Amino acid sequence: RALLDIEQLRATIRTVPDFPKPGIQFRDITTLLADPAALHGSVALLAEHARASGATVIAGMEARGFIFGAAVAIEAGMGFVPIRKPGKLPVETIGVDYQLEYGTDRLEVDPDAIAQGAKVALVDDLIATGGTALAAAELVRKAGGEVAAALFVVDLPDLGGAARLRDSNIEVHTLLAFE
Ligand code: PRP
Ligand code: ADE
Repeated sequence: RALLDIEQLRATIRTVPDFPKPGIQFRDITTLLADPAALHGSVALLAEHARASGATVIAGMEARGFIFGAAVAIEAGMGFVPIRKPGKLPVETIGVDYQLEYGTDRLEVDPDAIAQGAKVALVDDLIATGGTALAAAELVRKAGGEVAAALFVVDLPDLGGAARLRDSNIEVHTLLAFE
């Protein structure tokens, strides 16, 4: 089985200083998505983690988590649940407010999209503070699901998100880190 070279994967991610605010080093996946080997390789590795976690379904956080999450779901042969920014779903939702590295936001899910007892793998492009992923985990549990794992392409360990998730007993896998 051909494993993706992680240093090659890292090289496809573009760093943009001072976006969206001064002092933020923005790790931009636009350049990774344009590279077929990096795109398929990263999705395949995340799908392996999803299967190994015992997950039965993938959930992804709008917007960048939709790109990887839906691809991982297809690769792993699982369905996909969109965890959305506010006001987008046409039904009564469950919502959670959370803090971002550069602001605040809110996530919502259609509770009927998650079967009772479903084992959910959360997928996003990147974990920074972990606020988004912890909010998504709370939503999954409120909807009656269990969080099997949380999977990310990029970890920003200095912001402590992966450690926060592990502290709340969530299995975390990331493909590469930017210190
Ligand atoms: C980014 C990223 C993660 C989140 C990580 O999304 O895609 O979802 O931030 O940060 P955290 O670990 O500190 O919560 P963003 O909210 O910028 O939205 P986007 O996907 O719509 O670009
Ligand atoms: N989301 C939160 N922090 C980020 C960063 N530094 N780069 C890209 N996406 C992010």
